[in-house]
Amino acid sequence: MKPEARRVYTEVYGGEPEVYRAPGRVNLIGEHTDYNDGYVLPTPIDRHVYVAALPRTDDRFRVYAADFHQRKEFTVRGTQPDPDRPWSNYVQGVVKVLREEGHSLKGADMVVTGDVPLGAGLSSSAAVLIATLRAIQGMNGLELDPVETAYLGKRAENEFIGVRCGIMDHFVACLGEHGRALFVDCRTNEHRLIDMQPTHRVVIVNTMVQRKLEDSAYNERRAQCVEAVSIISKHDPEVKALRDVSPEKLVEHWGTLPAVIQQRARHVVTENQRVLDAVGYLETGDIEGLGDLMYDSHESLRYDYGVSCEELDALVDATMDMDEVVGARMTGAGFGGCTVNLVEAGYVAEFIKLIKERYYQATAKQADVYLA
Ligand code: GLA
Repeated sequence: MKPEARRVYTEVYGGEPEVYRAPGRVNLIGEHTDYNDGYVLPTPIDRHVYVAALPRTDDRFRVYAADFHQRKEFTVRGTQPDPDRPWSNYVQGVVKVLREEGHSLKGADMVVTGDVPLGAGLSSSAAVLIATLRAIQGMNGLELDPVETAYLGKRAENEFIGVRCGIMDHFVACLGEHGRALFVDCRTNEHRLIDMQPTHRVVIVNTMVQRKLEDSAYNERRAQCVEAVSIISKHDPEVKALRDVSPEKLVEHWGTLPAVIQQRARHVVTENQRVLDAVGYLETGDIEGLGDLMYDSHESLRYDYGVSCEELDALVDATMDMDEVVGARMTGAGFGGCTVNLVEAGYVAEFIKLIKERYYQATAKQADVYLA
């Protein structure tokens, strides 16, 4: 893919570009916790977005999206969301936030390409944003700290694309390392890399369904979390986010919350605890313990947070009698996308065969599989 980006660049513009990249991600545990100031535990996948680029002497950006065979041109000051070339908004959004931060930027010729599956919940968007941020920093000699870079990516996505996502995806695209999980405290930005056991592999199974509902349901869940906090903080002003609510505190305030808000809050509160427990298990090598938490997380997302779907449930249920699969759960925002499975290394080939068969039997759909 890297040579591919370089080759296309030379074909389109001539010259020998620099190639920058950022990975997609899968979240092991800690779902819908990032925007509640909570904890997450993602890991990068071995699929990337590549940006091949060279600076220009004027303020023009010429961008070619090789996977869509589309071009876009704009100037540093002329960024404007383009509904016909939605991919270009990621590049434009990055240019806009960097300019707003006071950086003076040169124009550039760029090729964007990659192999992160689109719309699968593996964060191709954050990968484009971070690869672009790296390219523009490289070409302009900007030295931004990786955490700051992650937040600029989030800002571009929130403000220019108009998606109200949290920080997890950009964080792991910037600071993740292959073969290691990245624990992030989304309030303090403290983070640490944790080695994963070579005895097990992270296997991602794509339902191949993508729900339209995703955006509105995501925003609705966020609003419900805000509602929980506003009710609880009336009695307990120290509560600024669901992160501040312990399981005991939730019990204390339980009766003051409307039924659906109780469920949403219970997911977030228990999920935060599961991430902390998962980190402990990963550090002590208790892979079974980690796997059990993944199944618990799925139940909680399915019944309390209400963001799973038939296809995701079918994939998780299909692993229940496989002893070599220690854990499985939906990953990402939900309503389609992928499951993440922790599978004994020697069982991976068999697992892939079986899960595809069972998914087809249950849904008449074909699943796709990737290794992290
Ligand atoms: C999406 C968002 C993330 C996070 C997850 C749910 O992937 O982009 O910020 O909120 O959903 O955990």
